[in-house]
Amino acid sequence: MKFDNVLTRMLGVQYPIIQGAFGWPGTGTSQIAVPVSEAGGLGILTTICYKNPEVFAEDIKRAKSMTDKPFAVNFTLMKDTKYDNAYHEEFVKITMEEGIRTVFTSAYDGSFIGRRFKEKGCNWIHKCATIEHAVSISKKGVDAVVIVGLEGTGYKNPNQNTTLINMTMGRRLIRVPLIAAGGIGDARGFVAALAMGAVGIYMGTSFMATKEFNVPDKLKEKIVGQEILDAEFRRKIYRMEHGGQHSLAAGVVTSIKSVKQYIEEMVQEASEIMSEFKQWGMVEG
Ligand SMILES: Cc1cc2nc3c(=O)[nH]c(=O)nc-3n(C[C@H](O)[C@H](O)[C@H](O)COP(=O)(O)O)c2cc1C
Repeated sequence: MKFDNVLTRMLGVQYPIIQGAFGWPGTGTSQIAVPVSEAGGLGILTTICYKNPEVFAEDIKRAKSMTDKPFAVNFTLMKDTKYDNAYHEEFVKITMEEGIRTVFTSAYDGSFIGRRFKEKGCNWIHKCATIEHAVSISKKGVDAVVIVGLEGTGYKNPNQNTTLINMTMGRRLIRVPLIAAGGIGDARGFVAALAMGAVGIYMGTSFMATKEFNVPDKLKEKIVGQEILDAEFRRKIYRMEHGGQHSLAAGVVTSIKSVKQYIEEMVQEASEIMSEFKQWGMVEG
């Protein structure tokens, strides 16, 4: 099945599937981004996972030598930490020099960095956790917004909604394309996100459980071995402190696969689900 929409065209990718930013040291590098891009999705290098700008520059070059497919760079901005606009200055320069066509900002307001990439004709996508922040950034020249639902990992926000509410409500309030994140790990989540009005999906936990991801196997095994009915696991959604290493997506990620196998199977199953709708007469054609 062909996926051809505003997002695949904007990013120049085969599938509207994006690998999330990973700020842990040594994780959000070419080791995960290249296989994702090679498999038809969009891989992301995360600046804050590198020791310094020099190591980041080397890794961009490595990624470019390993794939002709597009990949992106994420700048995670965190209020009251060292990860402010000034921290990212050298990383911004390198990203521009290397001709990266799509950048992501996340967490705090990314418009200072985003606008500079827009002036160079690049795509700028911002990721946030609340509808309020999505509405606000959508008026600042961004090309698309990723909204992370309560089902996702990371720090929760008391104003956060579930992925379903983010997409269905966001479509009414926000004029730029929306990308769904938070708790997505299988083809049903992928198809559901598209049905809710997202132009694509953005996943962290699911890619953390792939063979290529640079964390010890025991962390991946925790994800694929996650018991859905475990009460502690289900409480993740309500907990306002950090949601832990993996998200509710762990409930549907059941084995450690290569990135290629993971994406191919997800796309194949998504196509089957959509043709089931046709067989049931739910969709014409
Ligand atoms: C180990 C780990 C590290 C992450 N680090 C960052 C980060 O530095 N910056 C960021 O914007 N998001 C970060 N995220 C969030 C992901 O990019 C993504 O938004 C989130 O995982 C989506 O929810 P999901 O895990 O349910 O797919 C991280 C996620 C994980 C699992």
